[in-house]
Amino acid sequence: THNETFTIEGISYKLDDQTNVSPSILSKLSRKLHLQPHHPLYILRTQIEQHFPHFSYFNTFNPIVTVQKNFDDLGFPKDHPGRSKTDSYYINKQIMLRTHTSAHQLEVFSKMNTKFLISGDVYRRDEIDSSHYPIFHQMEGAQIFNIQNIEQEISKDKKYLISLNSRKIPLRDNSEVNDDTIISTNNPIQSCHPIEQVNFAIKHLKFSLNSLIKKLFINHDENLKIRWIDAYFPFTCPSWEMEIFFKGKWLEICGCGIVDQNILNKAGQSDKIGWAFGLGLERIAMVLFDIPDIRLFWSQDERFLDQFTDFNDNKIIKFLPFSKFPPCIKDISFWLNDQNFHENNFCEIIRNNAEDLVEDVKLIDDFVHPKTKKRSLCYRINYRSMDRTVTNDEINKIQERVREDIEEKLNVTLR
Ligand code: PHE
Repeated sequence: THNETFTIEGISYKLDDQTNVSPSILSKLSRKLHLQPHHPLYILRTQIEQHFPHFSYFNTFNPIVTVQKNFDDLGFPKDHPGRSKTDSYYINKQIMLRTHTSAHQLEVFSKMNTKFLISGDVYRRDEIDSSHYPIFHQMEGAQIFNIQNIEQEISKDKKYLISLNSRKIPLRDNSEVNDDTIISTNNPIQSCHPIEQVNFAIKHLKFSLNSLIKKLFINHDENLKIRWIDAYFPFTCPSWEMEIFFKGKWLEICGCGIVDQNILNKAGQSDKIGWAFGLGLERIAMVLFDIPDIRLFWSQDERFLDQFTDFNDNKIIKFLPFSKFPPCIKDISFWLNDQNFHENNFCEIIRNNAEDLVEDVKLIDDFVHPKTKKRSLCYRINYRSMDRTVTNDEINKIQERVREDIEEKLNVTLR
């Protein structure tokens, strides 16, 4: 497949042995759901923008980015698992579909912006179920302050109240300093950062996100629980994940932290300190609007889209699900002929053949033959349309193509 090219929105790209994007994924690039008026993701994006007035908003960056921007500029190590072909979509060795909106951080900081939001579609190879889809939307937020007078800059913000919590702060170089903050040893601050200043930035970050979530969920029936978990990202330190409690489960909705100083230095803003976050829009919208399946965001059915057209500022409209159509369940089992099987590759083949007719894929059996030592897997594929009843015939045809494809591409033997 060398010398082949793809043409996407008028630009042609050379393919190479890193290429793993499929036509079905590329066909979605033009949808831009976060820019489609009345779409729930559009509504959520504009609500978040309203919570951050005076920020610059970037909503139209191209999701096709260099590997440099998506990973290298942000300090991802060369062997980071996120770079792998099983997890990310590559157009070729240099160019990929962004896996996160952080891909644009450096360029936006470099244009001397100090507070901004970036929204966009992001692409990741993943499993298949009602909350995973290879494309979702993120909103990146960042705010940086003059390191010398961060306290004054922050206290201009009337809404902002500092809550103090006395703890010890571990530094990135393993030493420790006494001060008031909410930091744990394995989530240290950067050793180049003065404690007092970084503390202001951390508290401002937590305040900004807590107040955003409270505002978004103000009319929500359940009383809202939020928690912060220590996390790790190559481009923030310290880092956290924010989770909200919903229907008996903690849902991760946001990664965030204090921007790695190397990024601000590279951007020509070495006198600044600040925070960044990345919110997953579908997760929040599914809770806010009661949307039960992530595929619905891609629906062109007016029974879905028309439900959101009367939206006005403070009232979130709850989605009324149209009746669920019957599923069509198919099992598939096969022997693995080598060690290279990866579930994401398997799911990608199903997506390519079934598009949005696949709802869920689950491993239901995994065993090793006692004599031959060969491993066998059995998956259950749940096919279902969101807007009509599927026929057994059409699903059989899809299933047949899936079987042919996996045998051809995954080095397995069907049973
Ligand atoms: N880009 C991260 C992700 O997609 C989220 C993040 C954004 C974390 C900004 C820290 C700062 O998982």
